[in-house]
Amino acid sequence: MSVRLPVLGAAPLEDGLARRVSYVRVSLTDRCNYRCTYCMPEEGVELLPQPELLTFEELERLVTMLARLGVRRVRLTGGEPTIRRDVTALVARLARVPGLDEVVMTTNGHRLAELAAALAAAGLAGLNVSVDTLDAERFARITRRGDLARVLAGIEAARAAGLPLKLNVVALAGFNDDELGALCDYAWARGIVPRFIEWMPMSGGALYAPGAFLAADEVRRRIALHTGVASRPVVSAAGVGVDVGPARYHEVPGRGRFGVISAISEQFCDTCNRVRLTAVGALHTCLADDQATDLRQLLRGGADDAMIEAAVRGALAGKRRGHDFTREGCGAPAKHMVSIGG
Ligand code: 5AD
Ligand code: SF4
Repeated sequence: MSVRLPVLGAAPLEDGLARRVSYVRVSLTDRCNYRCTYCMPEEGVELLPQPELLTFEELERLVTMLARLGVRRVRLTGGEPTIRRDVTALVARLARVPGLDEVVMTTNGHRLAELAAALAAAGLAGLNVSVDTLDAERFARITRRGDLARVLAGIEAARAAGLPLKLNVVALAGFNDDELGALCDYAWARGIVPRFIEWMPMSGGALYAPGAFLAADEVRRRIALHTGVASRPVVSAAGVGVDVGPARYHEVPGRGRFGVISAISEQFCDTCNRVRLTAVGALHTCLADDQATDLRQLLRGGADDAMIEAAVRGALAGKRRGHDFTREGCGAPAKHMVSIGG
């Protein structure tokens, strides 16, 4: 972990509604070795030409600038970030950026068994692994090509490497609603925090099915039925049930804690602290916003840091108050989740 530097000579990043921006999600590729049904269409998506991806030098420059402006946390996403060539070398570079508290990653875990030790050595501070079910047949169905045994072996490798872990579970009625408690047990037995994510309509709503939406209160009810104990909100420095991100955490006494990421039934946009960068350097100030600011064009056009900073601040001035996703599937952006990385 690096020393926290004062933000020298620069006002920290803030959006037009005075929300501070301290977190950036960086997509390293729009490709994925899985094809999760809620994330991308079966035939895949039109892929970005490789030369258009930001280089490691460009990523390091942008992250260094953002850290100078008050960003403290970087999450590497995809598509699937571990299929970006030399991803551990990038982690090592970003982990050394002055002022950042941590570099973390969200992964499907398919390559973790081989990569976990190197990622930890490179300075990665934690991993979120997506596992929606502990049933191999269901797992193959939801990911369209995933291998559960391999992902679970990857989780063991990450534990052995000492990486703090969270489990990301998209909660889906009629798919895994009978497994939420079992997923908690699996995670708690391993010192992992499970988080249950409400399904969000992306892809213009094309992949979304309102009947499978499972709301946060139903998630908590199902877990309480399983454990036989009522959960209570965790009180942290940030408030009751609140932590640094959108997850609201609950504690099951004597068992462990779990998070719920409820973009729809308990919308959290008021406290949004983040922006997203696609693999080609498009800065999205909201997951639900298809409009973006092309930072790559500036980078490759010879812009200096002040020009890039002005573009970032300009984008933030127009950041939306929030998304307008509904559980019926309205409000979906056109883009696919796989192209922005959650
Ligand atoms: N709604 C909610 N979560 C999603 N994810 C992917 N697509 C969706 C969606 N439409 C999840 C993945 C991963 C995280 C980054 O986002 O499962 O865990
Ligand atoms: Fe790949 Fe993750 Fe999307 Fe599944 S959710 S297809 S693992 S990017």
